[in-house]
Amino acid sequence: MAFIPQDLDRVSGHIVPLGSRNIRMYLIRGESHALLGGGVPWVVERLETQLDRHGIDRSLIRFLVISHVHHDHCGAVPYLLRRYPHIEVVASDYGAHLLGKSGPVELMASVNRKTMETMGLPREYDGISLDFESVPVSLRAADGDFLDLGGITLHFYSTPGHSRCSLSTYIPALEALFPADALPFPEAGSDKLTVTASHDYDDYIRSLEKLLPLPIKLIGYEHGGMITGEDAKTMISRSLAATLQQRQRIKERYDELKDLDRLVDELAWKYSALELYSMVSSDTMRATMARMVRSALGMV
Ligand SMILES: [Fe+2]
Ligand SMILES: [Fe+2]
Repeated sequence: MAFIPQDLDRVSGHIVPLGSRNIRMYLIRGESHALLGGGVPWVVERLETQLDRHGIDRSLIRFLVISHVHHDHCGAVPYLLRRYPHIEVVASDYGAHLLGKSGPVELMASVNRKTMETMGLPREYDGISLDFESVPVSLRAADGDFLDLGGITLHFYSTPGHSRCSLSTYIPALEALFPADALPFPEAGSDKLTVTASHDYDDYIRSLEKLLPLPIKLIGYEHGGMITGEDAKTMISRSLAATLQQRQRIKERYDELKDLDRLVDELAWKYSALELYSMVSSDTMRATMARMVRSALGMV
């Protein structure tokens, strides 16, 4: 699996990758622009520098699409709205609900604040607060909805399973898919795929089946990077196969162990070893794996 280099303007003048390798956002350029991915507060400085380097006129950034309401996919949004109040946020209906609800908002605010503290970073950039707060959503997107940027159109797909609110963006003109965490993650340097069905296994499979007919030349993940060519073309079918295979393994292991806690421990240990989850606390990892295992076994 070859993640392609970070300066990807040469791939398509319409797609500008932003952020860091672990927390990736994309600027989609038409006559007006859209940001895909809401990032984290600790990539804000890098993001602004990258936008400057590409000479991006911020007044042309009209939309910001939040793929799902996890702290690592919407953490920079409150800063961006404070600084660029003309930007309209796009999210799924359930995503919009969560972004205005005190529980999830406070949770994300606290995770972001603690991470910034641990990293020894200030809570503002260029005089603007990086704190998280509720996010007003202007456009609620679902299957069949699209957004015309002028010369390029974004099509939306509800892809629950990783989270209930997951929204994927597809650009037919570029045959480019931006699924965020709705697809398994390719592990760099290997053919292995890490299944991310953390909310509902059946929904996750249905979402992959929904994306399967799309012609795909490029996939832009919000963790890792982009893949192109044959890797991208075959990714959805390989993702589906890996997801079904993992569910089968979970079922077989449960039959062997007859111990849900042990099975959850085993998977939590396996996932914790991956670089991507290095910042996830052991409690969160265990809770996530418990939900995934129970859902794979049809217990939720
Ligand atoms: Fe994520
Ligand atoms: Fe996520």
